[in-house]
Amino acid sequence: MVRMLGWLAESRAIHPWVVEHRRAIHRQPELAFQEVKTAARICATLRELGIPFREKVGRTGVVADLRVRDGAPTVALRADMDALPVQEETDVPFRSEVPNVAHLCGHDGHVAMLLGAARLLAQNRKALPVNVRFLFQPSEEKPPGGAPEMIRDGALEGVSEVFGLHVAPEVPVGHVSSRAGPIMAQSDRFDIVVTGQGGHGSRPQGAIDPVPAAAELVGALQTIVSRRVTPGEPCVVSVCMMRAGDTFNVIPPRAELSGTARTLVPETSEAMPKWIEEIAQNVAAAHGCRAEVRYERGYPPLINHAGSVERIRAAVESVLGEGRFLEHPVTMYGEDFSHYVRLRPGAFAFVGAGHPDRGPVECCHSSRFFLDEEALAVGPAVFARLIESYKV
Ligand code: NI
Repeated sequence: MVRMLGWLAESRAIHPWVVEHRRAIHRQPELAFQEVKTAARICATLRELGIPFREKVGRTGVVADLRVRDGAPTVALRADMDALPVQEETDVPFRSEVPNVAHLCGHDGHVAMLLGAARLLAQNRKALPVNVRFLFQPSEEKPPGGAPEMIRDGALEGVSEVFGLHVAPEVPVGHVSSRAGPIMAQSDRFDIVVTGQGGHGSRPQGAIDPVPAAAELVGALQTIVSRRVTPGEPCVVSVCMMRAGDTFNVIPPRAELSGTARTLVPETSEAMPKWIEEIAQNVAAAHGCRAEVRYERGYPPLINHAGSVERIRAAVESVLGEGRFLEHPVTMYGEDFSHYVRLRPGAFAFVGAGHPDRGPVECCHSSRFFLDEEALAVGPAVFARLIESYKV
């Protein structure tokens, strides 16, 4: 197919429109499964573009179908819509107007990029080789995530392949990165309550102090990574919360620990709850305490399909040029996009959003997260080229 303009040029032409959507969503962020205004904006825009859609998919999600050819496969493109329960601390003129809620993971940009892709593809619908489904998904940030509910409501029915993009400040703008195979981790949560017996701080002999047990447990849990897992295998155990006592001179009756376990290898993932349970029970027992462990599975690991990553690489090189596709390292973040690629071939990639002059990178979830809006020209062009790259 001969095109008058390249996808990037066409995307640049609608860039102000995409940025306007991103900034409007940024001002009015909404938490998981509360993305009502965001969904309304998406629906209004799809209506303008003449793309039929279904609302309230997976509670607050939107699924749109650009059908161009009967009998052709359908390829899905996904954006997540929710914000984080964090106070924004940037000085951008369009900063969040909602206290303690902000788009600090770039999902505002994801929605805007997918709307941009919808516009580009709708403008060129006669030339497209496949049908396109747009998945605007709620609640990526909050396990168990919005993806399972979207899937339950039919988001993947008739879909042959699925792609997702995430902005990444650690990747330079003008580049896109991904990798075949595992790219993000199984991300689980554990909570441990260590119970002893409270008493006066001056009379430890009359109490069973859970605090030394809890303190020892923090260190002992690190031996899972250093002593039980094969050296070199990516695995993280982080105790991120500790709570015990209310004042300085009373031995508390209980201590609580919470944290996250991240794994990539199925056998390790399988064994993790047992290891934590065993260590917690035995360390607690050594101090005369009892332990109670709750282990909650989060998102499965995100495993990219090699063929789909190849398609992304080709699209990136076609839109941005040679050398613009980068190999992404394995990260231990979690992402509920993993649910889609367990059911269909597909891949997840990162759109560079790091500005070279901004100094140290403010990463996703930082209260000072910064997104170079040039990325919002790249994402729609790459999505559009991905769709165009299928054979009729
Ligand atoms: Ni995110």
